[in-house]
Amino acid sequence: MTDMSKMNNRLDAFWMPFTPNAAFKANPRLMQFASGFYYTTTEGRQILDGFSGLWCSGIGHGHPKITEAIQKQAAEMDYSSPFNFGHPKAFELAEVIANQFPGDLDHVFFTNSGSESVDTALKMAIGYHRMRGEGSRTRLIGRVNGYHGVGFGGISVGGMVNNRKFFGSLLPGTDHMPFPYDPTVSAFTRGEPTEDPMKYLAELETMITLHDPSTIAAVIVEPVVGSAGMFVPPKGYLKRLRDITKKHGILLICDEVITGFGRLGTPNAATYFGVEPDIITLAKGINNAAVPMGAVVAGKHVYDAFINGTQAGVEFFHGYTYSAHPLAVASGLAAQAVYKEEGVYENVQAKAAYFEEAVHSLKGEPFVEDVRNIGFAAGLTITQDGDKIGARAAAVFQATYDNGVMVRANGNTIAIAPILTSTEVEIDRIVDAVKKAVNTVS
Ligand SMILES: Cc1ncc(COP(=O)(O)O)c(C=O)c1O
Repeated sequence: MTDMSKMNNRLDAFWMPFTPNAAFKANPRLMQFASGFYYTTTEGRQILDGFSGLWCSGIGHGHPKITEAIQKQAAEMDYSSPFNFGHPKAFELAEVIANQFPGDLDHVFFTNSGSESVDTALKMAIGYHRMRGEGSRTRLIGRVNGYHGVGFGGISVGGMVNNRKFFGSLLPGTDHMPFPYDPTVSAFTRGEPTEDPMKYLAELETMITLHDPSTIAAVIVEPVVGSAGMFVPPKGYLKRLRDITKKHGILLICDEVITGFGRLGTPNAATYFGVEPDIITLAKGINNAAVPMGAVVAGKHVYDAFINGTQAGVEFFHGYTYSAHPLAVASGLAAQAVYKEEGVYENVQAKAAYFEEAVHSLKGEPFVEDVRNIGFAAGLTITQDGDKIGARAAAVFQATYDNGVMVRANGNTIAIAPILTSTEVEIDRIVDAVKKAVNTVS
């Protein structure tokens, strides 16, 4: 194990992302090994991963097939330029991914993160309209409390206030639909709430009339609200949104960075909700997060608009040095094979009801104001301590960690996202650790 007395004075240089640096460095949580469902800390403590890393390691940690694929690829070819050169496995992975999406979602553009996927998708949408002679369609509509990564495009359409307020005027021409969840009506709902989705979508119709459809390029949503605390929109919401956007020639972008690859027990949320968006953003589970990777899946009409609308040369002036990086691609092919061969999605389908029952057993425990769930994802709202936003949820997160389980806190919420191969044993351990935690905090 790492000698902590030597470690502690070396934590200063790393400016940690989305972390209270001072608090963390005073009381660090340092992971050293990961295998299967568990992390091992530098102190040798075993921590059950109740959050799939960061919604991303659904197969668990250190799967031998993924490790081997990365090792083999590193020895075979470490890097090749994705501009004007290709490597066969990248084309293979693109096909494996495209085949899992409905309708004509046939074309895959590789990125290295969810944030890059979102900015790529937004540029694709604006470019698509211009290629078709509708260059006035530049507006982008997101949603209150939406999270679409941290690029300027993503925070502009995103609706989490702290992620936006420090960073100036952001992209012009963005607007935000209402948050599609009302705890006064839907608290403790199992699965999708049954409210009328038009309660939340009527304002989109008003917005479209206000701006005129000819100025709007795309609407972007998370099919299930993730980072803001795991909230499930009402039944039929995504279908109605698809109808409205289609009627007005507006592209629908579904940000499936969290819901892609098994979180709902299906390859993606588009399949789960029976909706065919124009563009889908992916990352995280695409390769189980062993190497950074993201992707954008575009409908044939989007791809064709660029390809057929360009006489010669580059059709889409966009890309990354590390798009389709060989190590990311190799781990992607391995992860995609594991999802299939080991029945990972089927495990979520089989255990989702058990998970639902387990998390809803937290109803009635101290400070638990709401429990929500879908597939292998759950959100809790923890009663705020006076005017201290997030303080009690952060204490619940720490107490759960002290009980040997990793979950996530954001604001007044706790989110749980078990590894997709979890059994009843892991589910019970996660829920027990949270239960104990809410009973110890004050
Ligand atoms: C829906 C959604 N979009 C985008 C992102 C950003 O992904 P990344 O952190 O890989 O940039 C996230 C990350 O959690 C996400 O949940």
